[in-house]
Amino acid sequence: MRCYHFSLVTLAVLGTALGYVWPSPKLDALEAARFNQEGFNANPVVSFVQPCDSFIFGDSTGRSNAADWIRTAYHDMATHNVTDGTGGLDASIRFAEEQARAENVGDGFSNTMDTAGALQVTRYISNADSLALLAVLAIESCGGPEIAFRGGRIDAGRPNAPGVPEPQQGLDSHIASFARQGFTQTEMIGLVACGHTFGGVQHDPFPDIVNVLNDPTDTEDVAHFDSTFVTFDNDVATEYISGTTQNPLVAGFNDTTNSDKRIFGSDGNTTMSSFSASPEIFASTCADLFARMLDTVPSGVQLTDVISPLPVKPSEVNLILAGDIIQLFGLVRLWNMGDDPTRTVTMLWKDHFGGIGNATLEFAGLSSSTAGKYSAAWYNFNATDGVSPLYLDAAAGVKSLSFVVEGELQDQNGLGFAIQDGFKFSQTSCQIEAPLSGRIDVAVRNGVNPTRVYLEQITTDSVQRIVVVEIDISPPTEPVPVNPAYSIWSINVIDPSANYDIGAEIDGIKYSTTINSFIGFPLCPT
Ligand code: HEM
Ligand SMILES: *[C@@H]1O[C@H](CO)[C@@H](O)[C@H](O)[C@H]1NC(C)=O
Ligand SMILES: *[C@@H]1O[C@H](CO)[C@@H](O)[C@H](O)[C@H]1NC(C)=O
Ligand SMILES: *[C@@H]1O[C@H](CO)[C@@H](O)[C@H](O)[C@H]1NC(C)=O
Ligand SMILES: *[C@@H]1O[C@H](CO)[C@@H](O)[C@H](O)[C@H]1NC(C)=O
Ligand SMILES: *[C@@H]1O[C@H](CO)[C@@H](O)[C@H](O)[C@H]1NC(C)=O
Repeated sequence: MRCYHFSLVTLAVLGTALGYVWPSPKLDALEAARFNQEGFNANPVVSFVQPCDSFIFGDSTGRSNAADWIRTAYHDMATHNVTDGTGGLDASIRFAEEQARAENVGDGFSNTMDTAGALQVTRYISNADSLALLAVLAIESCGGPEIAFRGGRIDAGRPNAPGVPEPQQGLDSHIASFARQGFTQTEMIGLVACGHTFGGVQHDPFPDIVNVLNDPTDTEDVAHFDSTFVTFDNDVATEYISGTTQNPLVAGFNDTTNSDKRIFGSDGNTTMSSFSASPEIFASTCADLFARMLDTVPSGVQLTDVISPLPVKPSEVNLILAGDIIQLFGLVRLWNMGDDPTRTVTMLWKDHFGGIGNATLEFAGLSSSTAGKYSAAWYNFNATDGVSPLYLDAAAGVKSLSFVVEGELQDQNGLGFAIQDGFKFSQTSCQIEAPLSGRIDVAVRNGVNPTRVYLEQITTDSVQRIVVVEIDISPPTEPVPVNPAYSIWSINVIDPSANYDIGAEIDGIKYSTTINSFIGFPLCPT
């Protein structure tokens, strides 16, 4: 498989960086999940942490999904042992065995990990990446700093060893615990304060720390860490330093469980004083510590570089062979651009004969990200009737795209946006009604000579990990031409509603393409 190398992009240039080279399926998917947050074509998961005071698990007050996501991410990571490289952010908190431990008391973990749709796991995005991303979205959407997000976390196959700190433990034990997780004492003070700017302690799981409150505005009896418990801000520090804090782990009635008090005071208040004096220092320290927390993974896991938004990004590009033509579907996203009716966006495509086609694209919608800080404008490859995809001559095909936006050529510094038209779904695919089955036809471009063509069946294993099963398609015994440029490889499937992609190995590189809508195809001729 191709090994991509990406340059390091720092957070300072977020929003303007060139990022990686498109296409790169995994990075494309992670980038989309991270930056297409609201509006057109957006990742739906942000609705789990927006608005910041929403709590969708019961009509209760005093709690927030955002706080649950951040706490879940920490408890998942806190099993890490920096010496032997075990544990870390690997979504092992999804296992009932881990959730049942005393160190993971409360329903926050099942809310976040077991709720259908809360984790948008795909072949490119693991449960662990999805968990880390939700924590990032929660922090960023609720007043926090931008967090450098990397992908590539791998889901654990079984629970990790225990290791989450608990409030009744002593300071030495907490220092040792954070050291085992890879954090110094100063970083421990920071990370606890950064986390405890959200949420609080509930009576139900912690009856010895919090009493029943009898407060109609706080029906879950949560004693909050600071007075702004759905917002990222340094109030957790200012209230602590001024001595007015109601933090139940500082001012709790039982000093044994006042772990924040012991931790915050453990350096003579130096760190907390600096947070209290400067919201900027608090935010930048938390941005670093949260990123490190999320990037604490079992040894051997290779994270991607920090994912920054591509300035110009093709999306959902899909080709279908329909007789003599290729239908080209897709969208292009222009980062950091608003709606402008006077803007012209033209797409150019190079074909195999040296020709260059062009089409003016129609505005499709706007998306936004990072609590509205960035917006993006989307244009669609559909022809101007708004309905049909672009029709390309199959023999000429398509090798790459580029765009002209407001008179400026956007072609990834001369590389173009490579399009693979060597194999694709063919509209000759058909269904058999009873018993329901079908034939998937893959059109393979003459001269391309793939080593293998296969279906990729996307399934889930017994522990919620996505598995891609490759089902080889036998080469046709005799060529089955559709047109002068393409011939068909076919495979019969018994479950046409299963989630398939089409894969091919060409010159040692594996490519994958989606099947848009096999259901609805014509019946196979008998
Ligand atoms: C010695 C270390 C820590 C101890 C003893 C501790 C203890 C606690 C306790 C007892 C709760 C109440 C949970 C509930 O009632 O459901 C809590 C909540 C929370 N903790 Fe920590 N914590 C520690 C470190 C951290 C860290 C490092 C983070 C994140 C960076 C974090 C984030 C949170 C959040 C966001 C909540 C609120 C959850 C909610 O309101 O649903 N904690 N913590
Ligand atoms: C961390 O791993 C090391 C090396 O295997 C081991 O000696 C140590 O006991 C582990 N720490 C904890 C707290 O399990
Ligand atoms: C304080 O908390 C500790 C640990 O939970 C508990 O063992 C102890 O009984 C509590 N003390 C009081 C006075 O409630
Ligand atoms: C830290 O500040 C708090 C609040 O002002 C104070 O009560 C406490 O004594 C201080 N701790 C240390 C170790 O200075
Ligand atoms: C688009 O194609 C037409 C012919 O099909 C050509 O006249 C025109 O110059 C092209 N425009 C651009 C921007 O390349
Ligand atoms: C093309 O337009 C149709 C009808 O408006 C729409 O359903 C489809 O999603 C569009 N395709 C793309 C790639 O935007």
